[in-house]
Amino acid sequence: MKDHPILKAARGEKTDYTPIWIMRQAGRYSERYRKIRAQAGSFMELCRNPKLAAEVTLIPIEEIGVDAAILFSDILVPLEKMGINVSFVEGKGPVLEPKVEKLEDVEKLRIPEPEKELPYVLETIQLIKKRLTDRPLIGFSGAPFTLASYMLEGGSSKNYIAAKSTMWNEPELWDALMSKLAETVIEYLSSQIKAGVDLIQIFDSWMGVLSKEDYERFVFPYTEKIVNELKKRHPETPIIHFGVNASHLLEVNNKLNVDVIGLDWKTEIPFALERIDKSIQGNLDPVTLFADEKIIEERVRKILTEGLKARGHIFNLGHGILPPTDPKKARFLVDTVHKVSKELRG
Ligand code: CP3
Repeated sequence: MKDHPILKAARGEKTDYTPIWIMRQAGRYSERYRKIRAQAGSFMELCRNPKLAAEVTLIPIEEIGVDAAILFSDILVPLEKMGINVSFVEGKGPVLEPKVEKLEDVEKLRIPEPEKELPYVLETIQLIKKRLTDRPLIGFSGAPFTLASYMLEGGSSKNYIAAKSTMWNEPELWDALMSKLAETVIEYLSSQIKAGVDLIQIFDSWMGVLSKEDYERFVFPYTEKIVNELKKRHPETPIIHFGVNASHLLEVNNKLNVDVIGLDWKTEIPFALERIDKSIQGNLDPVTLFADEKIIEERVRKILTEGLKARGHIFNLGHGILPPTDPKKARFLVDTVHKVSKELRG
């Protein structure tokens, strides 16, 4: 497993082709996913059901041929065990209650013990690892800022008014919340690694809404703490760090002791490579999968060619695959990445 192209690319070693996985690869665009989700009841129940979650995790390996599986769960799953109710409302997205508003609300939050309180996540990992022997399994967590934004806003947000104003107006609350989240993420990811995941991705999806100055001061130190602690405990496990609209944060994030930086589709690869010396992941616009195959192939070829200059490249979309995507197009993407990258590298 150590020599799988995804792990080699993460470490910056040469590979014969560019490996690919897709964010949200087990999701609503797949009919089999939709059937199993209906069987589970709700999305959160699916996340808590190891047998079905493992089943769903493995769908894209078979259906579209990606080079790695990603644990089926959600970044909001551990928050339930901190003391926040999480539900998904059709058409509205996640709803978290109660919202975190005062310092006392943060003091009440718990740091979950994954082995005791999130056993279904670890059991899902073990079930997947029994069945998936030829490809890596990716574990993941949200990063403190993205998680804090959901807790303070009570759900998705457009302008992050609660998150940013708390960060500026209430530094004590902010530090208490971010510190608790950092501890939670460390224990959660460490337990996933112990259960068998081969690499991890830290989703700081919404960090791009912050200016560089705010990011450096209010967010970076907590992510840095997580990464350093994980590298100390699990030096062999590669770490991918990802966020959207974050090209202004590349230089800062390059200081993290991570192996791979995930790029959204608006970040040009040459621009990124002037600012970072890590391996890269990405970064096809998810909407490209609605274009004709000829156009998909052209765009893929450009990304693969630019990616050759990175120390390592894992192909991905620049953000999650969209629910109306035709699975045949996803399969075409995977095959094209393999074919064209072999030709370019050969
Ligand atoms: O990538 C994968 O296939 C692994 C599983 C995974 C999911 N969510 C499954 C999911 C992962 C890694 C995530 C991460 C996640 N969840 C992020 C970070 C990545 C990103 O998108 O930036 C965020 C911000 C969330 C929070 C979240 N979960 C949102 C905003 C939503 C969307 C609500 C909606 O209706 O689309 C979810 C739900 C969710 N998570 C779905 C899936 C497959 C859709 C649930 C469904 O309706 O079946």
